[in-house]
Amino acid sequence: MTLWQERFGAEGPAAELLAYTVSLPYDQRLAADDVEGSRAHVRGLAAVGIVSHDDANILLAALDRVGEELAAGTLAFKPEDEDVHTAVERRVTELAGRAGARLHTGRSRNDQVATDLRLFTKRELLVVGRRLIGLQRVLLGRSKEAGDAYLPGYTHLQRAQPVLLAHHLMAHAWAFARDVDRLMDTRRRLDVSPLGAGALAGSSLPLDPDFVAAELGFAHRFENSLDAVSDRDFVAEALFDLALIGVHLSRLGEEMVLWSTEEFGFATLADSYATGSSMLPQKKNPDIAELARGRSGRLIGNLTGLLATLKGLPLAYNRDLQEDKEPLFDALDQISGGVAAIAGLLATVTWNTERMREAADSQYVAAVDLAEWLVVKGMPFREAHGVVAGLVRDAIQRRVPLAELVESHPALGAEAVELLSPGVAVTRRVTPGGAGPKPVAIQLKRFEAHLADMVTRLGGDDEP
Ligand code: ARG
Repeated sequence: MTLWQERFGAEGPAAELLAYTVSLPYDQRLAADDVEGSRAHVRGLAAVGIVSHDDANILLAALDRVGEELAAGTLAFKPEDEDVHTAVERRVTELAGRAGARLHTGRSRNDQVATDLRLFTKRELLVVGRRLIGLQRVLLGRSKEAGDAYLPGYTHLQRAQPVLLAHHLMAHAWAFARDVDRLMDTRRRLDVSPLGAGALAGSSLPLDPDFVAAELGFAHRFENSLDAVSDRDFVAEALFDLALIGVHLSRLGEEMVLWSTEEFGFATLADSYATGSSMLPQKKNPDIAELARGRSGRLIGNLTGLLATLKGLPLAYNRDLQEDKEPLFDALDQISGGVAAIAGLLATVTWNTERMREAADSQYVAAVDLAEWLVVKGMPFREAHGVVAGLVRDAIQRRVPLAELVESHPALGAEAVELLSPGVAVTRRVTPGGAGPKPVAIQLKRFEAHLADMVTRLGGDDEP
């Protein structure tokens, strides 16, 4: 039986209508939050005397039982249960008799679903934040153990200047740190209870939205009932946060794909984090990294899909809003799986630091150091750039080592040749936030402190 059948004729809803409109197959994920919201609602009704304390106790006992049945997986859903709210109310009514019929007093599924989804999102974003802390710990650990290993840093995917491997890994860690910060911002903004907004306009009954907001642990109650039931900004923001995490995983994944090629040869994936080919016996493929890259497309799609759903909606609730849940659930699942898989890949990958060093010691990567050496001697940078660029061009055209030309150049000479020695260039990146050993050691300390702060902000880092 639907919650609204008395309005319609005896034949009941068409099978096609139910098949097309039900959300229970996926919104059962909100069941625990629905029960929680209903508990607060019942306590609110009792507090203002709309429901007697006896009835409230019967309702609360029934809700406890429904919660247990849900947790045990024994609550049998019925074909007419349109959504999780219907299923919970139906079961409460079966258990609580007439008192059950008082549960929905002053409430609509419109404020109910918005309440459930905010409770759910608030909790799940914290879970994602904690997972990301785990990934950052892996990056930090691998950076610390990378020591003085260095590789070419790239711009335009062309070798540019050497950087410490730790510096490169930490660049990704800082991006994930911003992601956690962003999740916390989103959480703070969504921490508003819509319960008490009713279908759209509040109630003639003396409900107390502040009371139920506090009961549910929300920081605030809604200010405007129309906004309360129609606002899905928090879902869009959460989807953006998750899409950006997906983009960060994708960029990291792309580097793992490149680094594990024979052409780069910077990384060897652990066997347990690589896949084989059904036909080509020699293959060892970086599928996790590729899927992290590929799924970012899907995460972006979840965001743009919801924005498109929202853009034409008049106030207040429209059934279109039911389309908010699947993209959110999917994005959360994709990110949890992706963060775990990439963390495992990074924890177990072997860095081929010899190959990295060979690539970084290519003779031209210290070219800017030659120019800066001339700057220190008093030459304007543009002139110095020209001198060194000319030498590089000459070296390439005449196929002679750059060092020879540097040695015989009147403004440079033997002292400047030292700058081209293997391993020297990276040690000269000394400025704050730079890629050399001195600033990187400081960076690692600062990151550690930042991570500790963030863990405090998250109330611990126990992963679910
Ligand atoms: N399943 C619905 C949703 O997710 C619940 C709200 C239904 N409200 C309504 N007026 N039909 O949006």
